[in-house]
Amino acid sequence: QQAHVTLDPAFRIAPVHRRTFGTFVEHLGRCVYTGIHEPGHATADEDGFRRDVLELTRELGVTTVRYPGGNFVSGYRWEDGIGPVENRPRRLDLAWHSTEPNHVGLDEFMRWARRAGVEPMMAVNLGTRGIQEALDLLEYCNLESGTHWSDLRRANGAKEPHAIRMWCLGNEMDGPWQIGHKTAREYGRLAAETGRAMRMLDRDLELVACGSSGSSMPTFGAWEATVLEETYDVVDYVSCHAYYEEHDGDLASFLASAVDMDHFVESVVATADSVRARLGAKKRINVSFDEWNVWYMSRFQNAEPPADWPVAPPLLEDHYHLADAVTLGGLLISLLRHSDRVTAASLAQLVNVIAPIMTEPGGRAWRQTTFHPFALTAAHARGDVLRVEPVSPVHETARYGEVPLLDAVATRDAETGEAVLFAVNRSTSEPLELTVDSRGLGAVVPTAAITLSGPDVYARNTADDPDRVAPRPLTGVTADGGTLRAVLPAVSWNMIRLS
Ligand code: AHR
Repeated sequence: QQAHVTLDPAFRIAPVHRRTFGTFVEHLGRCVYTGIHEPGHATADEDGFRRDVLELTRELGVTTVRYPGGNFVSGYRWEDGIGPVENRPRRLDLAWHSTEPNHVGLDEFMRWARRAGVEPMMAVNLGTRGIQEALDLLEYCNLESGTHWSDLRRANGAKEPHAIRMWCLGNEMDGPWQIGHKTAREYGRLAAETGRAMRMLDRDLELVACGSSGSSMPTFGAWEATVLEETYDVVDYVSCHAYYEEHDGDLASFLASAVDMDHFVESVVATADSVRARLGAKKRINVSFDEWNVWYMSRFQNAEPPADWPVAPPLLEDHYHLADAVTLGGLLISLLRHSDRVTAASLAQLVNVIAPIMTEPGGRAWRQTTFHPFALTAAHARGDVLRVEPVSPVHETARYGEVPLLDAVATRDAETGEAVLFAVNRSTSEPLELTVDSRGLGAVVPTAAITLSGPDVYARNTADDPDRVAPRPLTGVTADGGTLRAVLPAVSWNMIRLS
């Protein structure tokens, strides 16, 4: 099987947005407690943050972190998480049937974010709460001093404002599982009024309206149209959320999950642009793909909820295999390919909960298989995103019909002249012979070639065997007079750098 791509700086899509490499920390399961935070752990710093997790977060190349939820935020009182820890209330978290001890709250998270070198992306509760609570939170975070909430922040030890720019107006308000679930019109009105008031307090915000929780939601499309009709002048982004899993051993469809992501983004962009046309608006609404990942949600839905109300129970702890990592790499290719309109994204989530980083309470931290395509893409995608005009054989899939075996995108840094090709071979059985026309790039040669592939597509990493699935050199890559040749193994994610 043979496939072909062309690398040419003339095929520029958009810059690589650093916010594409965001993740998500929710008060859910062991993401916060025994994830980022574990006082008493051998690596804990003076605030109880695990240094081993901080190091892996930096290595992952994370740029933004969404916080504090997720479904959790729709029942959350942010004030519970500030001030002396010993005075903070314990609360029931209805979303995850857990108890929230509030040992970590806003100020702790901001300290962690600074140490991790990430930009925070805050979500306000529009499930059980509304405009006033969002304004109080914004005042606490962003106002210098001289008012009730800003002075309270200073009294709590944060002298400088947290200066948070990006705010999500609620979470998944289209989902019947969401506390305070609303119709599109109800949510659109509340989001518009909340966002408008927030901008009165701080003009310099970037606001995200909730889009659909998945492209298979019954309200998909209509939801975005109505919400944007209400919020168009107030918000900058509409969100997309999508999770993928292998159903009934259908590996070919699973590996082609990016087809759904492409369709999702393109439909939302078309909807946003049609509202723009109807309103005669100038600005364009971009997409914040602020929850995406592989998640074996069906296992979670079939599991019994915790009987009592535990603190930080192990929830949603998917252990990823090689095919999951290849699929995740393909989803990143889709996000990059849409960089003209997807200008922010968050892999959900960061630690333990459907996460690239796992921890043992009191023990080790290790990289899941999915860590690798994310970290390598975040590290090497620089400059501009290029369309690569793939020519590829196709195969039939049960979910998406005929799909190309090759999925690919490239980036090029105009300053260094370095280009990087990211490519997935979706074939479940055959290698793919790839030729790359690189004449448009001038005299470049391959300087690195890496593959994530192997004989067992269901191989997983564990705390005892953390490097079973890891990137290794893609051998046999040749270059000759502007044509590069490589063989991409079946079920593989690959990265080839040309300098
Ligand atoms: O990321 C896990 C959950 O998935 C989030 O809390 C929610 O927003 C989504 O349904």
